[in-house]
Amino acid sequence: MAPQGKLQLCAALLSAVGLVVGQNTTWDHSLYTTSPPVYPSPNATGLAWESAFAQARNFVAQLTLEEKAQLVTGTAGPCVGNIAPIPRLGFLGLCLQDGPLAIRQADYASVFPAGLTAAASWDKGLIYQRGLDIGAEFKGKGAHIALGPVAGPLGRSGYGGRNWEGFSPDPYLTGVAFEMTIQAMQRSGVQATAKHYIGNEQETQRNPSLSPNNVTIEALSSNIDDRTMHEVYLWPFQNAVRVGVASMMCSYNRINGSYGCQNSKALNGLLKDELGFQGYVMSDWEAVHSGVASIEAGLDMNMPGGIAFTVPTPSFWGANITLAVNNGSLNVDRLDDMCRRIMTPYFHLHQNVNYPPIDGSEGDLNFFPLSSYVYNFTKGPSNIDVRDNHAGLIRELGAAGTVLLKNKNNILPLKAPKNIGVFGNDAGDLTNGLYSLAGGFASGDYEYGTLAVAGGSGTGRLTYVVPPLEAIKARARQDGSLVQYILNNTLLTSGSGFSSIFPTPPEVCLVFLKTWATEGYDRTTLLADWNSTAVVNAVAAYCNNTIVVTHSGGLNTLPFANHPNVTAILAAHLPGQETGNSIVDILYGAVNPSGKLPYTIALQESDYAFADITNSTALLETENPDAWQSDFTEQLLIDYRHFDYHNQTVAYEFGFGLSYTTFGLSNLTVRNVYAAGNISATPPRAAVVPGGNPTLWDVLYRATATITNTGRVAGAAVPQLYLSLPQLPGETAVTPPKVLRGFEKVSLQPGQSAMVSFDFVRRDLSSWDTRKQMWTIAPGRIGVMAGFSSRDIRGQTSFAPLS
Ligand SMILES: *[C@@H]1O[C@H](CO)[C@@H](O)[C@H](O)[C@H]1NC(C)=O
Ligand SMILES: *[C@@H]1O[C@H](CO)[C@@H](O)[C@H](O)[C@H]1NC(C)=O
Ligand SMILES: *[C@@H]1O[C@H](CO)[C@@H](O)[C@H](O)[C@H]1NC(C)=O
Ligand SMILES: *[C@@H]1O[C@H](CO)[C@@H](O)[C@H](O)[C@H]1NC(C)=O
Ligand SMILES: *[C@@H]1O[C@H](CO)[C@@H](O)[C@H](O)[C@H]1NC(C)=O
Ligand SMILES: *[C@@H]1O[C@H](CO)[C@@H](O)[C@H](O)[C@H]1NC(C)=O
Ligand SMILES: *[C@@H]1O[C@H](CO)[C@@H](O)[C@H](O)[C@H]1NC(C)=O
Ligand SMILES: *[C@@H]1O[C@H](CO)[C@@H](O)[C@H](O)[C@H]1NC(C)=O
Ligand SMILES: *[C@@H]1O[C@H](CO)[C@@H](O)[C@H](O)[C@H]1NC(C)=O
Ligand SMILES: *[C@@H]1O[C@H](CO)[C@@H](O)[C@H](O)[C@H]1NC(C)=O
Ligand SMILES: *[C@@H]1O[C@H](CO)[C@@H](O)[C@H](O)[C@H]1NC(C)=O
Ligand SMILES: *[C@@H]1O[C@H](CO)[C@@H](O)[C@H](O)[C@H]1NC(C)=O
Repeated sequence: MAPQGKLQLCAALLSAVGLVVGQNTTWDHSLYTTSPPVYPSPNATGLAWESAFAQARNFVAQLTLEEKAQLVTGTAGPCVGNIAPIPRLGFLGLCLQDGPLAIRQADYASVFPAGLTAAASWDKGLIYQRGLDIGAEFKGKGAHIALGPVAGPLGRSGYGGRNWEGFSPDPYLTGVAFEMTIQAMQRSGVQATAKHYIGNEQETQRNPSLSPNNVTIEALSSNIDDRTMHEVYLWPFQNAVRVGVASMMCSYNRINGSYGCQNSKALNGLLKDELGFQGYVMSDWEAVHSGVASIEAGLDMNMPGGIAFTVPTPSFWGANITLAVNNGSLNVDRLDDMCRRIMTPYFHLHQNVNYPPIDGSEGDLNFFPLSSYVYNFTKGPSNIDVRDNHAGLIRELGAAGTVLLKNKNNILPLKAPKNIGVFGNDAGDLTNGLYSLAGGFASGDYEYGTLAVAGGSGTGRLTYVVPPLEAIKARARQDGSLVQYILNNTLLTSGSGFSSIFPTPPEVCLVFLKTWATEGYDRTTLLADWNSTAVVNAVAAYCNNTIVVTHSGGLNTLPFANHPNVTAILAAHLPGQETGNSIVDILYGAVNPSGKLPYTIALQESDYAFADITNSTALLETENPDAWQSDFTEQLLIDYRHFDYHNQTVAYEFGFGLSYTTFGLSNLTVRNVYAAGNISATPPRAAVVPGGNPTLWDVLYRATATITNTGRVAGAAVPQLYLSLPQLPGETAVTPPKVLRGFEKVSLQPGQSAMVSFDFVRRDLSSWDTRKQMWTIAPGRIGVMAGFSSRDIRGQTSFAPLS
């Protein structure tokens, strides 16, 4: 204990003079075991949604108490979440459907690339188009509310089972992808749900459990300090509120000791007071653990409604709300606010006018059997095909989100190879069904078949899939190539695996690996599944031109990265239904790879040690209800911030990805573009609007740089802008050496140049000052680094905004 005490004292002295100090100097578990109470729950005022708010007010004024209780409590119906109709007011109810990459409870719908793939594209235009297309499919099926996109988990730990549903462990990249997706989905007419709010960084013990002696063991508590909350986990949700997201889904876990759906600091304090959120907070399914307490803490809608998962009654809400209002324990004003919050986005998106009816087949495709409805939902025709021309975007984004990590001697693109070998159990078609196993929670780790989408509520029902092998065969026919394949990993690693291949070895050997991930389970390794390392080593021992492709629900460490016969590696993430076509486009050069890693690939798993998931045999057997605690002691230092701070070598850094051409960056300049006079350290006073203080979005500085295609083929560069922010005086938590604050994707012909610009808003230049409770620009110079990855910096400059 003594050395630790000394270290803290020393750190405090250092920080007093503004030096960056080491980790764990400020972390004290006892400070984060309770979440401060913030009451009462703020009323929505309809800011930015004025006319819809007036409609909602008028609607709610006509409701009986029972109808109000019914409007905020889920019931049985055809969708995964249902709000009952109120026929006398012409209200047909609300249909809520999963999930972030497809309308899951539907047939004749598309399976899009996962959020992880979208993030790896770093392409704002394609991310927006994905949101439009997803939104159109939900609307076409009569779903009012889509349960996505995801920014929690953010990806603190690479083992997180749901990281692929979201975008990136970098809050800025996630913030951009999140807001573009939300804006696009809502432009298509469907309400988006930003989830899971907040600190939902692991699946293990996300919900309460029963101990061996039947004691209720509470869900994991994510213990997060105020600065880390603002600068890392809340950051993308702030973007979501700013662009007018309809709904927020609170999470299963506890936050600083208090459940996500009854945490008044998170819901009333951060979300509704500080960020000015005007929509409604919906619970995750069965994340409600109380009646009035959750309502007072800021929860507005209980899903799916009942105390048990599959039956809507009994409920903590429903008839209990009526009772609570009648006996005076709940003020009806709060209930009215909840109802107005729920109805405002509905009117704002004109869902009361000619909205398509709920597809007749949706009830049958539902995940749990709520067949006997009390309420009469209006259903339309069945099996409506909502896929439109979305396959084109899916194919394009699948390729754009594929990251070329290694390309020895420019072995790719393929040059009409005459003899191709295809290996690995991820290459071929699905053999266990397109949905039940591919989409199940625990059962998706099927041996044979390509991984286009991962599992749980965030999966999709494939109407078809183009497996890599099928697409390779089709493309190889154009060159008259021989395509031979062995998809059995056990055979490949048995020592006699290649006897059927002739002539031997093929000119190029493509190895397809996969990594299953799903809701409810964290990963136990960062390696690809199915003996992947042995499979690659076996193929590479035999074939000097081995190209590895990974399909993965998260990041993978790559022990074979430096194998001399592994000539190329492609991280293809989860591309969706066109997966084979997407990879063939890259392999044959029809598309020049431009994906960049939205996370860091370390040399080995133990390098990520600061963000292991919380788990052990002792915890799994505990009788202590409060035993599951996850202290976010690494604070701001997740992913590249951690590796940068520790000067640690990595295999492939955040932002990295090769192209078939090369790019240069020159003439980096930064200038003050703030027209309103001197820049103050803290935001000018202003009334809160959705997103918080509006001056946080004032553009203060602009950087520009010239990007040139210096190679011989057309391609797209992703110039990235990182800032090195000074430490706030008196702040002890480590400020990361650099943080992403801008990126663009630029397509260029050989020899062509283009100027790109990056706008820095006040929030981009600020740190969260825990004493002032404000975003604050620290005194000193801000370093500016522009380049093509977090470690490929091609231009540097600096500026001092406060002087
Ligand atoms: C920080 O403290 C925690 C808990 O004491 C410990 O597990 C972790 O290894 C420490 N991290 C660093 C970077 O020292
Ligand atoms: C919400 O509005 C009601 C009146 O409709 C008022 O009584 C209540 O105090 C308001 N709550 C807050 C937190 O302002
Ligand atoms: C725990 O509860 C289950 C179900 O009610 C019961 O079968 C079991 O015997 C209980 N175990 C103990 C140790 O009390
Ligand atoms: C009200 O909530 C309690 C739990 O607090 C539950 O036992 C009861 O069944 C609920 N009543 C109704 C009518 O749902
Ligand atoms: C549902 O419709 C049936 C048949 O029209 C009617 O008898 C019943 O009362 C309706 N139920 C509700 C809850 O409106
Ligand atoms: C895969 O190969 C192993 C080893 O040769 C064999 O035992 C197994 O039956 C094969 N699996 C299938 C599905 O053919
Ligand atoms: C994995 O490959 C190794 C090396 O070839 C082999 O010894 C081992 O049996 C394989 N494991 C499985 C589970 O197939
Ligand atoms: C690389 O491939 C060749 C066959 O072309 C093989 O002889 C050699 O052993 C392989 N190298 C390694 C390190 O596996
Ligand atoms: C692989 O080995 C063959 C035969 O030795 C040689 O012709 C070819 O260039 C090698 N390929 C690579 C990529 O090294
Ligand atoms: C949690 O810990 C148990 C016991 O050590 C282990 O069996 C299990 O695989 C772990 N789960 C995860 C996701 O790490
Ligand atoms: C990382 O390297 C920089 C520059 O060499 C040095 O100032 C710093 O102390 C190093 N950080 C750590 C944690 O070793
Ligand atoms: C460098 O950038 C500045 C402004 O950002 C621009 O005016 C100038 O023309 C650029 N110079 C070159 C050589 O591109």
